[in-house]
Amino acid sequence: MSNKYREFDINFGLEGRTALITGAAAGIGQAIAVMYAKKGADIICFDLHEAPETREAVEKCGRKFLQITADITRDEDIKNAVKTSIEEFGKIDILVNCAGIGILEKIEEVRDEVWQKTLDINLTGSFKMTREVGKEMLKAGGGKIVCIASQGGVVALDRHVAYGCTKAAIIQLVKQCALEWARYNINVNAISPTIVMTALGEMNWNNEAGEAFKKTIPARRFGYPEEVAACAVFLASDAASLINGANIVLDGGFTIG
Ligand SMILES: NC(=O)c1ccc[n+]([C@@H]2O[C@H](COP(=O)([O-])OP(=O)(O)OC[C@H]3O[C@@H](n4cnc5c(N)ncnc54)[C@H](O)[C@@H]3O)[C@@H](O)[C@H]2O)c1
Repeated sequence: MSNKYREFDINFGLEGRTALITGAAAGIGQAIAVMYAKKGADIICFDLHEAPETREAVEKCGRKFLQITADITRDEDIKNAVKTSIEEFGKIDILVNCAGIGILEKIEEVRDEVWQKTLDINLTGSFKMTREVGKEMLKAGGGKIVCIASQGGVVALDRHVAYGCTKAAIIQLVKQCALEWARYNINVNAISPTIVMTALGEMNWNNEAGEAFKKTIPARRFGYPEEVAACAVFLASDAASLINGANIVLDGGFTIG
């Protein structure tokens, strides 16, 4: 007997899907947008900055690209982005919450504005975007939500107090959303990478501390944006429909124990 849960595309294709990706102008978000387009998805890029490189790569795959230059800390920007996306594409099948910042400071030196900004972007922004896109997915009868958390949300890391607290909260956010929405065919999961070689990763770790850190990772290396993108493709595909509220660590074994 035919059963959609058994007869999915084993190549994890995303043909005909529309994916809204925050932070898709650079780094991990950009790699996810490009790999999703290669898998057949149209892309909505929500970012503070224009994304000409992402646009070019997506359009080269023959997929549609919509730029929404906006700030995840502004409620109006989130609401307008969802409205525009629905007007343009009729649906949002996949949401990737990737926009984020990481400013490393010792606890006793953390500035209030850094603490607040990190919470506003990494946590509150992801929550509000999830809430607004989630309403559309509930109406449409399903969807996939992928949140980029971090190994810093799983274990404590030196100078990561603001960042680590937001990422631990994201891991809880996906559990909460999965609990309430799994029955409506919405899958919500997190990916927690180790240090990834992007502008953000290089700013903090392309130095002596980075070399020392690598020695503590069982795989003895950092990650690449494409490795995170591959995991995000799987989680957005029909093959991952039974994965709910999970946090997939992509850390070369760093958080094993
Ligand atoms: N690079 C790493 O080592 C690493 C490791 C683990 C997790 N992560 C997470 O992955 C995500 C992406 O990181 P990255 O390394 O690609 O960073 P990045 O700095 O290369 O890219 C982040 C993108 O987010 C956008 N952005 C930032 N603030 C925004 C805002 N207020 N509104 C809209 N867009 C905004 C930026 O413009 C940028 O395009 C982040 O959530 C980060 O915490 C990164």
